[in-house]
Amino acid sequence: MKNFVIAAVSGALLLVSGQGMAANIEAGKKKAAEVCAACHGPDGNSPAPAFPKIAGQHASYLEKSLNEYKSGVRKDPIMAGMAAALSKEDIENLSAYFASQSGLKTKY
Ligand code: HEC
Repeated sequence: MKNFVIAAVSGALLLVSGQGMAANIEAGKKKAAEVCAACHGPDGNSPAPAFPKIAGQHASYLEKSLNEYKSGVRKDPIMAGMAAALSKEDIENLSAYFASQSGLKTKY
């Protein structure tokens, strides 16, 4: 019984540490509220047409766009500044968060 408990606990620990590798939606949500919400809305359903809706967009597309703003391949003075301040992890987490939101909401 004791061995079983030890095995179960170490298995659970492995699972938890494994999740550290994947994008962290909660961290993305927090970062989005701090940095992105002013223009794109808290969940990516941008309140104004000047700012593209990013809620429900594919994570891979969001990640690619942010990396391209960061590298300068895609040019936009506002987003270049935003992306420059983001780490690789920030970009993964933000992309996972906005991808997990529904893009069907039209207004608040
Ligand atoms: C000051 C306003 C502002 C803030 C803050 C802002 N953005 Fe943007 N964002 C824009 C504008 C304007 C565009 C359109 C740029 C263009 O035409 O390429 C844009 C475009 C984007 C796009 C491309 C969308 C598409 O459909 O191709 C992504 C992804 C994005 N923003 C993510 C973010 C994230 C993530 C944050 C927070 C770290 C953020 N933005 C913060 C104004 C903002």
